Amino acid sequence: MSSKLKKAVSELEKQFNVPLSEVKKIIKDFHGEMSRGLAGQKSSLKMIPTYVDKPSGGEKGKFLALDLGGTNFRILEVELRGRGQLTPVREKKLVLDKKYVSGKGENLFNFLAHCIKDFSKEPRSIGFTFSFPVKQTGIAEGRLLHWTKDFSAKGVVGKDVVRLLSEALLRSATYNKRIAALVNDTVGTLAAHAYHDEDCDVAVILGTGTNACYQEEVNNISKWRGPIYLSDRMIINIEWGGFNKLRSTPFDISLDNASENPGAQILEKMVSGMYLGEIVRFIIRGLINKKIIFKGKNIPIFNEPKGFIAEYISRIEADRSPGLLDVNAFLKNKGIRNSTGEEREALQKICHLVSKRGARISAAALAAVLTKIDPKLLRVHTVAVDGSLYEKHPNFAKNIRLTLQETFGRRALRVRMALAKDGSGRGAAIIAAIATSL
Ligand code: GLC
Repeated sequence: MSSKLKKAVSELEKQFNVPLSEVKKIIKDFHGEMSRGLAGQKSSLKMIPTYVDKPSGGEKGKFLALDLGGTNFRILEVELRGRGQLTPVREKKLVLDKKYVSGKGENLFNFLAHCIKDFSKEPRSIGFTFSFPVKQTGIAEGRLLHWTKDFSAKGVVGKDVVRLLSEALLRSATYNKRIAALVNDTVGTLAAHAYHDEDCDVAVILGTGTNACYQEEVNNISKWRGPIYLSDRMIINIEWGGFNKLRSTPFDISLDNASENPGAQILEKMVSGMYLGEIVRFIIRGLINKKIIFKGKNIPIFNEPKGFIAEYISRIEADRSPGLLDVNAFLKNKGIRNSTGEEREALQKICHLVSKRGARISAAALAAVLTKIDPKLLRVHTVAVDGSLYEKHPNFAKNIRLTLQETFGRRALRVRMALAKDGSGRGAAIIAAIATSL
């Protein structure tokens, strides 16, 4: 590697490294923010009460579930058969057009209502997974606090999203559907996995966005002023993407300044799929501008916002061939014809540094949640995880596991990470079943 490139990479190595001492500091700060959030004090963790506990596994019936929170919108019909058994009956996936993501909120909800109408003519209760920070005021009631993940549909912030969807259903003359539960995707994922695994008490999403929820003792939720609640435990939606006690690099600061929501979602911007590619892009663009890599050539993937996406990071890190043949093919396809082996190695290394930092920060946050529930890790905990980053990135899951091992030693064996694919939709159906039986 040219000495300049070598020097730049070793500087980045220092900036993006998260040593065990820093993991421990994150855990401690995270505990502080969790407690303040639960007490209703100022905190970067919202710690939102969800008005629901884990399912018993006995819930039954046919329900519809909607899943809105990323690039796709899904609608599914699920049959719960009790004893932890569930059959997805039908499912439809639709790509959400940009005009709904950033246009008038009313159009977004009209679109959802039309999809529901087309999908089912039967009378059904609906579990509505809406994966944004919502201040719930009931199991089927909650106001959107602010958009995340670059959504910006107008006229929705501050409004009850269940009401917005119910009104849209009426506008589309759909009278036989009722929204029984409003659910965050983390909570849906927890419910879906806990339906058949009673050790499951934490769920994490690592996809476009990132967040987690867990089962808390109601006595510990000192801000809870809700109505009579039947269980002594409740699921808390942490909204961990908002955690802000983290060390930022200059690249994180540039990314934040250029984002839709500067100053917000700091952890999410260091961890989730929506942003990892952008961090790599900012780094490489800086090196190109200094003429340290790719002969200082102006290349669209590194020049245009969102030009470099998380899927590219996965592909680049997966290349184990000598000389990085697939990275070469990738770069050629993007207009960089004569990269050197050293440049390819540097690019791979940078992807690795950025994704590894994301994995270590999320592992630290997860370790904080686990030790909040069970300080000495005396019990077995299943953590249900969903999201493309966790599922598809070649090293992300492994780096989380390694960080947990470093942090907990042998006790890390008591933490089982389970991939819970598509849990959020199914979980919403389960929570709709709980809500209709109350
Ligand atoms: C964002 C949302 C959060 C959601 C997460 C994963 O962080 O604010 O509600 O759970 O993305 O989709």
